[in-house]
Amino acid sequence: MEVTLAIVKPDGVKRGLIGEILKRYENKGLRLKAAKVVTPSIELLEKHYEEHKGKPFFKPLIEYMSSGPVFAMVLEGENAVKLVRMINGATKVEDALPGTIRGDFASSTTYNVVHGSDSVESAKREIALWFPELIL
Ligand code: RTP
Ligand code: MG
Repeated sequence: MEVTLAIVKPDGVKRGLIGEILKRYENKGLRLKAAKVVTPSIELLEKHYEEHKGKPFFKPLIEYMSSGPVFAMVLEGENAVKLVRMINGATKVEDALPGTIRGDFASSTTYNVVHGSDSVESAKREIALWFPELIL
């Protein structure tokens, strides 16, 4: 069964959206395999976002993601990777459709409430980073 990593980012946690967001994933049939509230270290975030190193938004992104607690979760289900990204919505704030998490709650491309792994390979790599103790 496919697994993926989803994260409620610091703005989502501050706004009290953990329950609302988890409900949307569960409503779609995804099952919660592991979860934790944690303020991620810069070291973890630089690894997590290594594909974006050197881009103009990298530094603000790491600062934002380390600014407070996040809710990291491993979700399981058929096509879990694609489903979470559909439920999250488009990266660009102006493209995120109503009915998606970003469409309904985000007003900025940087501060965009949620993360979802972008492929099965990324999901494996990210889950190992965030949940090194987890045996799937
Ligand atoms: P994520 O990895 O968080 O699920 O988001 P994504 O795949 O939709 O977008 P990605 O291209 O991987 O970008 C990672 C995060 O960087 C911030 N970002 N800011 N200001 C900007 O132009 C910009 N572009 C990206 C967002 O927080 C995005 O989710
Ligand atoms: Mg991404």
